[in-house]
Amino acid sequence: MPSTPVPDLVQWFPFQERSDARGSLAVIEGARHIPFDIARVYYVYGTQPGICRGLHAHKKLQQVATCVSGSCTMLLDDGQRKETVTLDNPGKGLLIPALVWHEMDDFSPDCVLLVLASAPYDEADYIRNYSEFKSYIQEQHN
Ligand code: TYD
Repeated sequence: MPSTPVPDLVQWFPFQERSDARGSLAVIEGARHIPFDIARVYYVYGTQPGICRGLHAHKKLQQVATCVSGSCTMLLDDGQRKETVTLDNPGKGLLIPALVWHEMDDFSPDCVLLVLASAPYDEADYIRNYSEFKSYIQEQHN
């Protein structure tokens, strides 16, 4: 049987953008622009210099993140591949799939990191220890 192709670790989802002489407006319609039903929206702002956030993976939660103001970097790590990308474009969102360790840093002072999530907050869905993350994904593959 052919094996299922592994999706790219970095997947961007473009939003609808309307720009004119007055400036820009971005639209996120869940059904059109986001690959899951949005159950929760949160945003990270006022991040202090030198801070790294995230440092966890989720067992089931899927998220799309975008900087609606400013910029930050995001490391994605699925246990085999690692990619670091810059979020500095409010016109598109980065998918943070389940079972991907992620870390955000290099927050600009004006950064507002908006996150759309597929489920309500549930601490039991977090894996906050990197070696537990590696063991957990190994178990999933066995
Ligand atoms: P956390 O997910 O650890 O933040 P980050 O990954 O950005 O470093 O969340 C920080 C705190 O906020 C933690 O006590 C959990 C709480 N929290 C909620 O209560 N609800 C939420 O939707 C989120 C994302 C966090």
